[in-house]
Amino acid sequence: MGINYGSWILLFHTLVILLLHCSHGDQAKVLGERENKSLEIQHNNHHHNHMGHNIDPSSMVFFTLKDLKVGKTMQIYFPKRELSLSTLWPKEKAESLPFSSNKLSYLLKFFSFSQGSPQAIAMKNTLKECETKPIKGEVKFCATSLESMLEFTKNVFGSKYEIQSYATLHKTKSNVTFQNYTIVETPMEILAPKVVACHTLSYPYVVFYCHSQESENRVYRISLVGENGDKVEAMAVCHMDTSQWAHNHVSFQLLGITPGSSSVCHFFPADNFVFIPKFKSKPSYT
Ligand SMILES: *[C@@H]1O[C@H](CO)[C@@H](O)[C@H](O)[C@H]1NC(C)=O
Ligand SMILES: *[C@@H]1O[C@H](CO)[C@@H](O)[C@H](O)[C@H]1NC(C)=O
Ligand SMILES: *[C@@H]1O[C@H](CO)[C@@H](O)[C@H](O)[C@H]1NC(C)=O
Repeated sequence: MGINYGSWILLFHTLVILLLHCSHGDQAKVLGERENKSLEIQHNNHHHNHMGHNIDPSSMVFFTLKDLKVGKTMQIYFPKRELSLSTLWPKEKAESLPFSSNKLSYLLKFFSFSQGSPQAIAMKNTLKECETKPIKGEVKFCATSLESMLEFTKNVFGSKYEIQSYATLHKTKSNVTFQNYTIVETPMEILAPKVVACHTLSYPYVVFYCHSQESENRVYRISLVGENGDKVEAMAVCHMDTSQWAHNHVSFQLLGITPGSSSVCHFFPADNFVFIPKFKSKPSYT
């Protein structure tokens, strides 16, 4: 309705930057043009992929550290999801509703979705995903508002740090979501003592699945050019220790590796956030 994907994401990111400024009194880092979008992780898909021939293109986001070099070409899926501001709820509104599998029938009535409808199934899966215990060395949280996403992130980083936000940025507009992309510049590593990654989940209002792994992670910004000329400043994270991951994690099948034998990296879609702590250089007097 008049607001395209690119502007939505930009607006969204601006909201996060505003919140970082206002609600915490932190000096939000003014992000440069290349920095003000971030990337996402494909959490929702890995359950549905099993060994086999039919690899879902949406799981084509994984690679390993050795792929990170200029000239490397990879097939990558960058979803261009339609989101709408009307589904971004303020914290008070989101927290006035239960967010629990136990309350699913109440929630289905509330949103007027019938049992077994695609929306009901999506809600059920999202709640289940949010209630799954984190793996060893991981903290996770499903945030039902921007405010609670930032509160979680602040708690993970601690009060000595400010939050920097990154996202994947599509520099050209096209409707191609899956194609070959080539790395055209030396990937830039962003110093990341900790990382919180937040992915969107399917729900009647915006829900972010945020998580952070204690083991070493490396964060990169990677300039990509697609076969059709599309330019993407992509964010990616490399998990250096995959020994605690489920042995059937789709990335292992795709990359032909086993848990703990190699790093696993993945690109983020543009509607995901990557948060990194930055040591506050000066005390803030606000
Ligand atoms: C973010 O990037 C856009 C261009 O993609 C630019 O117009 C805007 O000013 C940037 N915002 C900030 C806060 O730097
Ligand atoms: C993408 O856009 C092109 C030209 O604008 C159009 O011809 C094509 O059908 C579109 N493809 C999809 C999958 O929407
Ligand atoms: C990427 O390039 C390879 C080799 O040319 C080709 O086989 C493959 O179909 C391409 N992938 C996509 C998604 O276009």
